[in-house]
Amino acid sequence: MTRQLDYNKDQLLVMYKKVNPSLLKTNGGRFERRRASLFKALSLPRQMFKGKSIIDLGGGTGEKLFFYSSLGCVNCTLVEPNEISVNYAKKLFRKTPLKTINTPLEDFEMSTIKQYDIVSCEGVIHHLKNPESILKKILHNLGKNAMFIFAVNESNAWYLRHLQRLFVRTYGNNDEKLMIVVAKKYLANHLRLAVRKGLRSQKAVIYDTFVNPRINTLDLEAICKIFKSKNMSYHSSYPTLRNPFSLIQHSEPKPDEFDYEKNRVYYQKLEVIWKGGGKNLGGLEKRIKNKNLTRNDLKKIQTGYLGHGLSYFVGVKSE
Ligand SMILES: C[S@@+](CC[C@H](N)C(=O)[O-])C[C@H]1O[C@@H](n2cnc3c(N)ncnc32)[C@H](O)[C@@H]1O
Repeated sequence: MTRQLDYNKDQLLVMYKKVNPSLLKTNGGRFERRRASLFKALSLPRQMFKGKSIIDLGGGTGEKLFFYSSLGCVNCTLVEPNEISVNYAKKLFRKTPLKTINTPLEDFEMSTIKQYDIVSCEGVIHHLKNPESILKKILHNLGKNAMFIFAVNESNAWYLRHLQRLFVRTYGNNDEKLMIVVAKKYLANHLRLAVRKGLRSQKAVIYDTFVNPRINTLDLEAICKIFKSKNMSYHSSYPTLRNPFSLIQHSEPKPDEFDYEKNRVYYQKLEVIWKGGGKNLGGLEKRIKNKNLTRNDLKKIQTGYLGHGLSYFVGVKSE
């Protein structure tokens, strides 16, 4: 078979072998509590997982898949190109059945996912060279009524993180050691929160967010269009896409949330909020690129609302 991706040479995967992006601190109950809050926000009751087969695409070291298995998921399958992560997951699952497929999504036989009730893909797609094309393939191959749990860096919700990343890379001259120094010196507060909330080490956060050579975000419009074109019906998302200002009677049919066109006016307002949270960001990107940032500019990427790391979208295949 001709490989689409040389994963011994791909810079991103080389970096992930050096500093693992997915290793999570799962002791002490915080990981379970974070997952429980996420599932609540996404209207996913714990009991819905019982007896359901699941495949996790780019599932890293397997902590999230292991959690699904603790909720009663069966036939747990991990697709992951980094063999170091796969081996870690195998140790985690030593007393529980786990199937592993050690390959990048570009080379993965997508029709495999037809067999699964739940497909999850968290924090992976935006690291691919062609995120849209892989997302379309995943959705195309979902079985009828299968649920897709998807987390991605959405361009608007990620915009302030994008500015942070641009800042670290520009002022760090794209040099690995210098980028680390810049991140630690100027974004210390953000890093502390990211470590506390994300349960990853500071090193993992710095490498995955700033040193990482590839973050190809997708915007809400593209995500909705792809989901709609593949007959996905909206179950939930975080941030939510449900319009609380809608005046349509509850008994009347409403446009599906993945129908971007029908929701365009409302979504464009949402995007403005996600992007800046009320901050005036005019000209900031240019000033970062030109290295003439003011103290006030810097504050905007250091404190207050700093965007969402991952945006979640849950859909059900309805054809
Ligand atoms: C930020 S980590 C997220 C891991 C896990 N999904 C989680 O939420 O903890 C990104 C993952 O994407 C994987 N990845 C990177 N490129 C990939 C590719 N081409 N195909 C599949 N997975 C890939 C990495 O190896 C890594 O495990």
